[in-house]
Amino acid sequence: MSQVLVASNRGPVSFSLSDDGGLTMRRGGGGLVSGLAAVTGAPRDPGPPRPAGTEREPSAGGADVLWVCASLGEADRTAARRSPDGRLDLAGYETGGAAVRMLDIPEATFDRAYNGVANSTLWFVHHLLYDTPRNPHFDARARRDWQSYEAYNAAFADALARDAAEGAKAAIQDYHLSLAPRMLRDRRPDLKIVHFSHTPWAPPEYFGLLPDDIGAQILLGILGADHAGFLTERWASAFLDCCELLPGARVDHVARTVSCSGHTTRVGVHGLGVDGTALRQRAAEQDVVERARALREQVGDRRLIVRIDRTELSKNIVRGLAAYRELLVNHPEWRGRVVHLAFAYPSRYDLPEYREYTAAVRRMAEQISDEFGTADWEPLILQVNDDYPRSLAAYGLADVLLVNPIRDGMNLVAKEGPVLSRHGCALVLSREAGAAAELSEDALMVNPYDVSQTAEALRQALLMPRARRAERCARLADAATALPPQRWFADQLAALD
Ligand code: G6P
Repeated sequence: MSQVLVASNRGPVSFSLSDDGGLTMRRGGGGLVSGLAAVTGAPRDPGPPRPAGTEREPSAGGADVLWVCASLGEADRTAARRSPDGRLDLAGYETGGAAVRMLDIPEATFDRAYNGVANSTLWFVHHLLYDTPRNPHFDARARRDWQSYEAYNAAFADALARDAAEGAKAAIQDYHLSLAPRMLRDRRPDLKIVHFSHTPWAPPEYFGLLPDDIGAQILLGILGADHAGFLTERWASAFLDCCELLPGARVDHVARTVSCSGHTTRVGVHGLGVDGTALRQRAAEQDVVERARALREQVGDRRLIVRIDRTELSKNIVRGLAAYRELLVNHPEWRGRVVHLAFAYPSRYDLPEYREYTAAVRRMAEQISDEFGTADWEPLILQVNDDYPRSLAAYGLADVLLVNPIRDGMNLVAKEGPVLSRHGCALVLSREAGAAAELSEDALMVNPYDVSQTAEALRQALLMPRARRAERCARLADAATALPPQRWFADQLAALD
């Protein structure tokens, strides 16, 4: 059986530690994990225990899968230390064929690599999030963080190099691991390596904010792979444009290849959609049905505008709420007739920017509630917590789905919503989301910075005749399910042959 290694920062499982020292395993969070879990057979939501000793089924097209990930916190580190060589015993969990190795990376190294470089620097660069008069500020501390990022990438490359069978394929994920492909090639030239970016890629003038040597190392790191995958043409072209600036690199925009130091990397576009059947099955479960009933009771027969995000700066939640406010100001006929459900999963609270942003979202929500709320009408329901079944229930009830990121690699909310919508929802979509490349014909497209345009799109969406909405929503759902995760992953592996 062929071997496939998957490497990502966040793995398919994570642990919590009880007072008596016991460990409880649950499914890891985040879109990347959902997409990959669908193809590797890692625990689904929620991984129900199954009898110990049950045979594992092969997954990922009959391959033997080993998923290497970081320990995210003390409980994960304890689990990694207690397992022989970090290889977790997943007996009793529905894991398909995936085995998991959690790396016990020292806490300070992890913190600097994940918070300092990956999330405060690379995420900010690719999503154009910097407030440039003040940031970025690359000083001695940034250099120290960069060294930790190198060490963190080297820990992955070491583990992959040690565990890979001769000629195995390694699928390295995202901006946390941009140096790992080259490090792995240096250690194991026999392997076939693909790197996949789940984020947008910055245009060269913005990528150029990075110190020159760091920018070059990021590009050279990814160019260590045989194949570099992106979610859309736009992000793939931006990567090629950045490679143009690399001394000694030859970029062919037509063939989409980059040659550098005798090695050629092909650049490919692999759109990621949703598995419609699995999503509908999950949404039919009792916990989702109960939440849908409770939500309907709470909002009555009013129209629903729904948004679902992480509390993430790039998701543009504050401007989205401002647009809803503008709708209520300019079109008072909608007061009392519509409710906005804004559900957000807490995210990256170690970073002050994320805590401040969440506070700004809450302030804006309070302002709207104070300004328009009446004894019998709550104009906005904002909830900041992690409740997946409630999100699925909200998709089902939505009349309008608002997805207005400043910039987004793909955005799976824009795809999940139309698939689960019961009566056909209208989609208001940012032109800066990767999903726009596939959904723009049937969505109402907006410039994410234009609050007034977004308010008007919300109004148009509310006014759209039901039949028209249902027609467009059906086409959106078809487009959303055209590239399920299984195909997305299989295409990348096939590109290595
Ligand atoms: C994005 C990234 C993923 C990441 C997820 C959640 O989708 O592309 O790599 O896992 O955000 O972010 P977190 O920092 O919580 O892992």
